[in-house]
Amino acid sequence: MQKAKYIFLLCLILTGCVSPQKQYRIGVSQCLDDAWRQKMNNEMQCELLLHPEMKLYTRFANGSNDLQCAQIDSFIQERVDLLIVSPNEAEEVKPAVTRAYHAGIPVIVADRRVTGDEWTAFIGGDNYQVGVLMADWIHSIQSTTSHRLHVLEVCGLPGSTPATLRHKGMIESLAGHDTIPLIRSVQGLWQKEDAYRAVCSYLSQYANVELIVAQNDLMAIGAAEAVRDTKGYGSGSVRIMGVDGISVGLQAIVGGIIECTATYSSRGDMVINTAAKILSGEPFVRDTVLQTTMVYSGAAQAILMQYNERMHDIETMKIVQIRTDTMMEDLRFHRHIIVIVVSFTILLFVLIIAFLFYSQHRLQTEIKEEVVPQLENVQEAIQLSRRDEAFTERLKQIVDAHLTDPNLNVEYLASLLQLSRTQIFRRVKSVSGKGPLDYIRERRLIRANELLHTTDMTVQQVALELCFSSPGYFTKCYKEYFGHLPSSVK
Ligand code: FRU
Repeated sequence: MQKAKYIFLLCLILTGCVSPQKQYRIGVSQCLDDAWRQKMNNEMQCELLLHPEMKLYTRFANGSNDLQCAQIDSFIQERVDLLIVSPNEAEEVKPAVTRAYHAGIPVIVADRRVTGDEWTAFIGGDNYQVGVLMADWIHSIQSTTSHRLHVLEVCGLPGSTPATLRHKGMIESLAGHDTIPLIRSVQGLWQKEDAYRAVCSYLSQYANVELIVAQNDLMAIGAAEAVRDTKGYGSGSVRIMGVDGISVGLQAIVGGIIECTATYSSRGDMVINTAAKILSGEPFVRDTVLQTTMVYSGAAQAILMQYNERMHDIETMKIVQIRTDTMMEDLRFHRHIIVIVVSFTILLFVLIIAFLFYSQHRLQTEIKEEVVPQLENVQEAIQLSRRDEAFTERLKQIVDAHLTDPNLNVEYLASLLQLSRTQIFRRVKSVSGKGPLDYIRERRLIRANELLHTTDMTVQQVALELCFSSPGYFTKCYKEYFGHLPSSVK
């Protein structure tokens, strides 16, 4: 019983050692798959190196609200442990986000917001402040000239919160100045190609645009290409500002294609950290608004270099991760082998113990059923033989004491030994192998022989002394017993 308890404990410890750490499945729903989001995904993957308990499943909605809602619903069905959403448009994607939230799935909204507050955490840039930086840039140029500047704003998707907030921040900030430039807006839908088409079409109608503020770097580059390709405009004739500060944007600044950009952090690392805190029940910041800053050509080169170094680091880390994954895979394989070997050893151990118990039990039963009775028989036999020895001794003493008594016969001997006639026959036979009379005769012959050897008595005297019916009969008996005549002793 005690042994079984220890085996059970050992099994518990072993299963405890090998039981894998809980794995969290994180659904990531990205509205688009452009350079800015690839940067965010990279940052998330990198941070995951510190959180091996989480695994990301990323889906891209290609700018479609319906597709994004369907993808979120499938994440709900798959019962992911947490959802990270960057919604395409705030109002349209809200129902799916709310469904996930009500299904008990923690939801982190990243970059773009959804309407309402049925989400767990938000991490994103200060879009109103981005708009203020746009206004600052416009104003810094406006203040150097007396005429009203003609500014073209290239907006992102109208239903997305960065598009509305950046616009609002810019307009409200410009309103505070004396000379308010002429602001016109076109839709670039966050994409370079859409921006290109919209700007081409605008420039072909209005020939005197001087500044373009694009709500992201990709649209700024699209706008620059539109300027270059539109008749009457030469490359660099319109000053352009972008937003994001991603690699292509910084390169465009360094290359003189656009003038500046306002940074818009993606902070995928922070998103993963918040996810880890939510999943482990640690306190977390519910609403994180990231700061923004202007980057002109001077800083762009430095940031680009840093950015490239970081990308290189990320690539190295990815390689390290692949190697670590392979090693972990090997380790898991070895662990399985160890578990199998240990389990077999335990099984063998249990079987041996069981076998030992069984053998012990069988041996005990065998001893009880066979050896003990045999032992009892032996003991009985010993007792019997002890009793026989005592009887033989007593018989010999009594017979020897009455050798010269002519009345010594079977009845007399029986009475001396306090036995019945039948008993005396059986017992004398059993201890001497002969009947009582033969036994008495044998004892008399042995005494006769002693007398013949140790005294001067004649054969006749000895025969008489020991109650033989005649010397002739004595001589016959003596010859039979000792093999020679009694007279030969003398
Ligand atoms: C990327 C992007 C960025 C922009 C952000 C706004 O998909 O368009 O360029 O700053 O989304 O949500």
